[in-house]
Amino acid sequence: MSTPLLSVEQLTVSAPGAAERVRIIDGIGLAVSPGETLALVGESGCGKSMTALAIMRLVSPPLRIHAGSRVLFEGRDILALPATEMRTVRGAQMAMIFQEPMTSLNPVTRVGAQVQEAITLHSDVSPFAARMQVIDLFEMVGIPDPHKRIDAYPHQLSGGLKQRVMIAMAMALKPRLLIADEPTTALDATIRAQILDLIRNLTANTGTAVLLITHDFGVVNELADRVAVMYAGQIVEEGTREDLLARPKHPYAQGLLKSIPRAEQRGGRLEEIQGVVPRPGQWPEGCRFHTRCPYVFDDCVFEPPARTIVSATQAARCHLLTGKALDPA
Ligand SMILES: Nc1ncnc2c1ncn2[C@@H]1O[C@H](COP(=O)(O)OP(=O)(O)O)[C@@H](O)[C@H]1O
Ligand code: SF4
Ligand SMILES: [Mg+2]
Repeated sequence: MSTPLLSVEQLTVSAPGAAERVRIIDGIGLAVSPGETLALVGESGCGKSMTALAIMRLVSPPLRIHAGSRVLFEGRDILALPATEMRTVRGAQMAMIFQEPMTSLNPVTRVGAQVQEAITLHSDVSPFAARMQVIDLFEMVGIPDPHKRIDAYPHQLSGGLKQRVMIAMAMALKPRLLIADEPTTALDATIRAQILDLIRNLTANTGTAVLLITHDFGVVNELADRVAVMYAGQIVEEGTREDLLARPKHPYAQGLLKSIPRAEQRGGRLEEIQGVVPRPGQWPEGCRFHTRCPYVFDDCVFEPPARTIVSATQAARCHLLTGKALDPA
């Protein structure tokens, strides 16, 4: 088997709590192969962004990445790298785009200069050559009149254009992995479709792998090769797009899938799953989903379900898959 580009093992992050430290993500495991798009899905508050930040090692005190966590990038544990080496990995090897382009761009610097700086920081090109690269990149991400737009300030651009600038900046160094955290959530439906198309084309053309974070199964349907479903700091199901869309096994994944067409109209609220995601520190005993699960039974309340292999490509964390519900003896 080929080495995955990114392999995350037992990734755990905690924050200080009232009495003891509280886990925000808890033993996350996932893998992304070169060129592949893995969608990380779950409602708001499940720990998706924290997972992305921890992978990029953008977690700072009082938050802590626990010992035993591993983030292998091309086989190397980047959690063990010195900070200077990590800075090279970040940007040149793996880059991230965020939900809110407004907050990630510097409001007082022209957008072209910001992308240019990202290039000159990591490579030995002249300012002129870097500027030419920025124009090419702007063209590649579909920014009209790139010669003019490079001299615009962020506030002079629409939300969709700003997100394109962020994507250009992320792609500037041809990273092997792009982490996109809800890249279309702040955008309207038409622009959203254009940005998804752009990400699809870029990755097809460059071979860049993508970890795509979303609360929206519609986005999964459009872009993902494989899917990991997250709930209360854990991965509760993983499989191919086909596995998750055609035969999700975990009741939470089933609920997310059922709420695709309606969630948007309800501002992301899920019709099919009652209640809300429990906050860190308030995760229930046993199965963390048991307070909301329509299939809950005795074992669920006391015993955390193990990860059960369903097929060569699919696994889920639910007692229903171990046959216990059918055989209560
Ligand atoms: N710096 C922090 N300190 C304490 N709790 C945090 C911090 N950042 C996020 N959280 C909490 O961790 C949970 C997961 O957050 P996040 O990763 O942003 O979820 P998602 O991206 O899935 O919406 C949320 O309940 C959030 O309030
Ligand atoms: S383990 Fe029980 S509560 Fe958890 S998802 Fe499965 S059936 Fe529902
Ligand atoms: Mg988030």
